[in-house]
Amino acid sequence: MKTLPSVSLIAQSESMRSVLARLDTVAASDSSVLLIGETGVGKELIAEFIHRASPRQPRPFVKVGLSALPPELLESELFGHERGAYTSAATDKKGLFELASTGSIFLDDIDDFPLALQAKLLRVLESREIMHVGGTHPIPIDVRLITATKIDLKTLVERGIFRSDLYYRINVVPMVIPPLRDRREDIPPLVDHFLKRYIADRDIRVSQDAMQSMLTYSWPGNVRELRNVMQRMVLFANGEIRKADLPPEIREDNPLAAVVKECARCMGEENMTFDQVVACLEVNLIRQALKQFDGNRTQTAKHLGLSLSTLRDKLKKYDIQ
Ligand SMILES: Nc1ncnc2c1ncn2[C@@H]1O[C@H](COP(=O)(O)OP(=O)(O)OP(=O)(O)O)[C@@H](O)[C@H]1O
Ligand SMILES: [Mg+2]
Repeated sequence: MKTLPSVSLIAQSESMRSVLARLDTVAASDSSVLLIGETGVGKELIAEFIHRASPRQPRPFVKVGLSALPPELLESELFGHERGAYTSAATDKKGLFELASTGSIFLDDIDDFPLALQAKLLRVLESREIMHVGGTHPIPIDVRLITATKIDLKTLVERGIFRSDLYYRINVVPMVIPPLRDRREDIPPLVDHFLKRYIADRDIRVSQDAMQSMLTYSWPGNVRELRNVMQRMVLFANGEIRKADLPPEIREDNPLAAVVKECARCMGEENMTFDQVVACLEVNLIRQALKQFDGNRTQTAKHLGLSLSTLRDKLKKYDIQ
C-alpha cells in the first residue's frame, strides 16, 4: 500500500505494484499522463495520487468529469467567458483551466471530448494560453494535464472521432490500470481496507467461503463495486460476513457454473435436436450475462462478444425479458 495524506492506494498484485513503482517518477516529471482502464479501476484515485506526489502538490487539483458536462457549456466551463458572451453571461467567469493554474487538471472521460472542441483544447495545451469565450486577450496558464479514458483512444482516432494530434499530445505517459479480475491478489487487502474504513468501532471478519466467492467473482464494476458491496454488508453484518450475506451474483460460484447448472435442467430430456441444445445454451448464457450486468444490454452484448442488434434479435427470438 502507498499512502499520502488523503490518498491510500492498495497494490498487492504484481501488475499494480509495477504501476505503483512508476508513480513517483511519473509524478515528479511534469509530463501529461493518460490513465487507461475500465470503470471503477481507480483512475481518479491515481490521478489524485500523481498530483499529491508532485511538486505541484500544494496548489490546486481540479477534476473535470467531461461526460457530465453538457457540450454547449463545455467551452465556457473549461476556458471561461467574458460578460455578455452569451445572453446568460451576466459577469466574467473564470474557466477550470484558470482555476487549476500552477496546479494540475484532471480531465476524466476524455474519450467523450467533442470533436468540435478538440482543436481548441490542443491549441491551449500547445500554446499554454487560454482565451475566454467572447474574449480578446490570451491568458497564460501553467497546468499539468492528467486525462483518463475507459476505451482505447487509438480506435477513436481510427474512426475519425478523436484527433490524432491531440491523442499524441495527451498520451505522453500512458498508464494502463488492469481490471480487478486480472489482479485478484488485490481483493483481500482491498476488503481489509474497506472494512477498516466502514467500521469504526466494531470487529467484523470475513468468513473463508465468503472470501473465496469474492475471489472468483468477475467484478465488472471493479474496485468501486467491491467498495459498494463492503459498505452495504458492514451495515448489516454481525461479527462475521458469511457467504450467505453476499449479493447473489457474487455468491454464485462462477457465472459459467450457473449456466451449466441451468442447461443441465433443460437438457434433461432425451432426443433434443441440435437446434434445441444450441437454443438452451444461448438462452442461459444471455440470461446469466443480463443478470451479471443488471440488465444493461450494451454491457451484456460486449461481454458476450455480440453486437447490440444481434443481442436484441436473440432477446426477441427467445422472448427473454
Ligand atoms: N488501489 C486502490 N486502493 C484503494 N482504493 C481504491 C483503489 N482503486 C480504486 N479505489 C477506490 O475505488 C473507487 C473507484 O475508484 P475511481 O473513482 O478512482 O475509479 P475510476 O477508474 O475513476 O472509475 P470511472 O471510470 O467510473 O470514473 C474509489 O472509491 C476509489 O477510492
Ligand atoms: Mg473516474
